[in-house]
Amino acid sequence: MIHLHFTSVIIAVILFFVAVMMQNGSKGQKITHMILRVFYILIIISGGVVFSSAMAGSMAMEYGLKLLGGLLVIGMMEMVLVRKQKSKSTGVLWALFIIFLVFTVYMGAHLPLGFLHI
Ligand code: HEM
Repeated sequence: MIHLHFTSVIIAVILFFVAVMMQNGSKGQKITHMILRVFYILIIISGGVVFSSAMAGSMAMEYGLKLLGGLLVIGMMEMVLVRKQKSKSTGVLWALFIIFLVFTVYMGAHLPLGFLHI
């Protein structure tokens, strides 16, 4: 499950940047956005499965923060894309996206199943 989670995260972030760079309102952007939403679901399911089997230990708070961070990253990706499609400002959302992404990847990587855990 952790591999599905990690793979889904990488693909989702790439799809997000592809969708952002596409022409506003184009068919390609809409389709990429739809596929990205499928990956949100994969991330939440795979992360949720690992979460439920691993959080009830001494690192419950870290797992809780990781889950919250992950949901906020998904929220920011969705809000940046939707506001961009409506030609509204996205500056603050981009800043929050970067902050939440760095935090979530840091937490994920340092938790027991993460690639930087020692
Ligand atoms: C786009 C948002 C997210 C990003 C960028 C992200 C990133 C990561 C990364 C990089 C890892 C380490 C994976 C590895 O080293 O193989 C990880 C692990 C994990 N993530 Fe996420 N994640 C996100 C969303 C979520 C969500 C929504 C949940 C909960 C529903 C979640 C729960 C977990 C859990 C439980 C782990 C395993 C931690 C461990 O036991 O070591 N993540 N995540």
